[in-house]
Amino acid sequence: MRFVGVISGEVKPSQFNIELSTADVERGSFIKVNHETYGWVLARIDDMKRYINNKGEEVLMASAYAIGYKQNNQILIPKTPFKPKSRVYTADRELIMDILGIRKSKKNSIYLGLLEGHNVPVYLDVGKTIGKHISILAKTGAGKSYTVGVILEELLKNDFPIVIIDPHGEYGSLRYENDDYDAMLKFNVKPRSYDAQIKEYTANIIINPDAEKLTLKPQFSLEELIEIMPMKLNDKQKEILYNALRRLEHQEYTIQDIINAVRLDKSGSKWKVISGLETLRNSGIFEGKPITKEQLVRRGQLTIINLKGTEPRIQELILTRIATDLFNSIKISEIPRFLFLIEEAHNFCPERGFGDAFSSQILRTIASEGRKFGFHLCVVSQRPARIDKNVLSQCNTQIILKVTNPNDLKAISQSIEGFTPGMENIIKELSVGQALVVGEPVEQPIVVNIRARETKHGVLGREINSELGEKRQGVIEKIKPVFIKDEREIMREKIIEKKSLIDKIKSIFLRD
Ligand SMILES: Nc1ncnc2c1ncn2[C@@H]1O[C@H](COP(=O)(O)OP(=O)(O)O)[C@@H](O)[C@H]1O
Ligand SMILES: [Mg+2]
Repeated sequence: MRFVGVISGEVKPSQFNIELSTADVERGSFIKVNHETYGWVLARIDDMKRYINNKGEEVLMASAYAIGYKQNNQILIPKTPFKPKSRVYTADRELIMDILGIRKSKKNSIYLGLLEGHNVPVYLDVGKTIGKHISILAKTGAGKSYTVGVILEELLKNDFPIVIIDPHGEYGSLRYENDDYDAMLKFNVKPRSYDAQIKEYTANIIINPDAEKLTLKPQFSLEELIEIMPMKLNDKQKEILYNALRRLEHQEYTIQDIINAVRLDKSGSKWKVISGLETLRNSGIFEGKPITKEQLVRRGQLTIINLKGTEPRIQELILTRIATDLFNSIKISEIPRFLFLIEEAHNFCPERGFGDAFSSQILRTIASEGRKFGFHLCVVSQRPARIDKNVLSQCNTQIILKVTNPNDLKAISQSIEGFTPGMENIIKELSVGQALVVGEPVEQPIVVNIRARETKHGVLGREINSELGEKRQGVIEKIKPVFIKDEREIMREKIIEKKSLIDKIKSIFLRD
């Protein structure tokens, strides 16, 4: 511990000022003060200023707040002020780890990185971190996927089952060892491959040759089928579909069986329905042996659902199907507790006004009811403002990397209990690979320098396969998925355009 200054002026139980005698502490630094009744109390500098006093001397002042002290394994907050003129020191590792709750045995914990400014390793308890759902939010390029990779590595070490919805196919790279030795050395991390623990499935095996084919059961409710048809159906066409499904009730059927049943219809409207069903059949997602819950959730296994090259509506269908089946299974204890991680979550459970997704309903249900059965969600997104508030607000652990967009900052502030303007400033000033960790696993929001990966990060991992990819490109061109345009994206843009137009009109008419 180093002496940094003395308490100056008025002292409150949790708030006080320090006249600093050193310039080597900064905003956010942890310090400690000996309290006459409680002993060493951990505190933190939350602001600093520098000025010339009336004697013409330069003064460096800091304001700080007390975080807590430890008594009988409990973290308590001082209820009486420190003595004026108490001496203030830099906090030592032991006190920081004890009070912040970031030291756990390595077992059942996630080694996330190093505490900013203190080089203290941050170990988060697995149960507390993911138990009540978790969100990982940041602007593009700030390090979300990299952080997800770190968390996946840690959960795999703990044999925790994971299913990840991977729209860009970036997590297969956990098979390959990282070769950035300098970065790993800094965090005391060794290269490792998780190849033996990974199962990767995809609807598009041509684009994703490392993955096995994903097949879903072709059993639908009418609503589901209408939702995933590649065109809008009118009432007559819906009726034709309804009648066909009625005919097939109580038996296992394929898409071809539905087509055959529709063919029996006398109406001329059936041809459009048939052509839509043929498009679905040709997507291949319903062909083969359907994936089972035991294949998806298994101790020590990371199941990657690689959606690269899959049309958005089919992506939503895959997520909905898998999430619904797993939720039903976990409710009757057929599968162990597991983490369900969704990248680009704003596409699968968009906030009202930002589109509509078939998968929203089940994700809302899981967000509110999943935890008690051990269905743990992790939502990852670069557009927090566009995620369903009902889902976001259920995430009790937040890992937030750099965010600058005001709407996104607002959405984050609304989803976190006790969010302060200070936290907003921290989030805006984070650099790539730095995260603010808030919520269940920590006593206090902390800034962590996310550790280096043991495995290659997605983009690099993809490069490994690029040669193979090029060879296959010719084939891909020929059999490009039937739905090429991302209609959801177009719809969303239209809605936003409309909204801003309405706002404009309103502002003209409501002007005084
Ligand atoms: N903790 C980190 N350590 C080192 N490099 C990082 C870290 N986080 C991110 N990066 C770098 O930043 C790039 C973008 O990170 P990524 O996680 O892909 O961003 P996002 O998913 O938020 O768009 C990565 O390719 C990597 O090079
Ligand atoms: Mg990413």
